[in-house]
Amino acid sequence: MAYDRISDANEITARYMDSILIKERLIDSVVADTGVELFGERFASPVMTPAFSHLKQMGGRELTGLEEYSLAAKNMNILNFVGMMENDMFQRIIDTGAKTVRIVKPYADNAKVKDQMKFAEDAGAFGIGMDIDHIFGNEGLDVVIGEQMAVQTSDMIRSYVESTSLPFVIKGVLSEEEAVKCADLGAKAIIVSHHHGRLPYAVPPMMVLPGIRKALEGRDVKIIVDCGISSGADVYKCLALGADAAAVGRSMLPSLEEGGTQGVQKFLEDVNNELRFIMSCTGFARVDEIDDRCLVKC
Ligand SMILES: Cc1cc2nc3c(=O)[nH]c(=O)nc-3n(C[C@H](O)[C@H](O)[C@H](O)COP(=O)(O)O)c2cc1C
Repeated sequence: MAYDRISDANEITARYMDSILIKERLIDSVVADTGVELFGERFASPVMTPAFSHLKQMGGRELTGLEEYSLAAKNMNILNFVGMMENDMFQRIIDTGAKTVRIVKPYADNAKVKDQMKFAEDAGAFGIGMDIDHIFGNEGLDVVIGEQMAVQTSDMIRSYVESTSLPFVIKGVLSEEEAVKCADLGAKAIIVSHHHGRLPYAVPPMMVLPGIRKALEGRDVKIIVDCGISSGADVYKCLALGADAAAVGRSMLPSLEEGGTQGVQKFLEDVNNELRFIMSCTGFARVDEIDDRCLVKC
């Protein structure tokens, strides 16, 4: 029988997510609390913003999209992430008051990596990290907006971890083996991600979550996940499969473009409200109680 082959990891991820269904447990259930503690700080939700870059002003408004979504994160008391940017832009993110993790690119210019990490720490970042899944491109080492990327060795990553008192987050982990390596190098969190499908046939992050959770048992490493997350149901499934928190991604862009801070805040609140509803309907009162007993794979 003929069939259509798909190599796009975004589509594979969406299909996997939608193949997971949810059972109810209602008697004795209560209205759930979506609050979480991360690195000693209390947040209102395990929903996070994605590590985005290069969002300019939208709809003729004054602030860039990066500042607008950071303000929404601040207003909601959720953890904020940003990606590739220069220090002056990062300062503007800090000025929004959002608790922000700065994900620095694996630049070939190692002095730039260290400078951006130090700047972030001095400016008052909540955490720092690196997206290790943006090293390679089809022609070898990638060039991102004119900036050369470079291989990152264990020694280099250990030196970043040791250079800061902030939690260090490694973004772009997609195997149990690499998750354990991150823990050994001193990372305080990993983001299980295929970076919106950079790798053909990349395994859906939620498919490797249970294995990664098991591999990191007893280690002090938070598991964050992203890719293809657009609803509270998606977040719930990720938590049930082993994540501590989950970031939305391009799913927030239409609300951001149209409505700025208010628009994206409404989107994030809707995601969190759906998460609370599903937690309540499945008998989990708190985020750290959620497990996979109410999931069914079809
Ligand atoms: C406009 C845009 C800019 C991004 N910039 C970065 C970045 O600088 N650093 C990074 O680690 N990831 C970056 N990402 C990837 C996201 O952080 C995230 O991993 C991805 O969008 C998740 O997939 P999803 O959009 O399908 O949910 C970017 C994504 C987009 C759409």
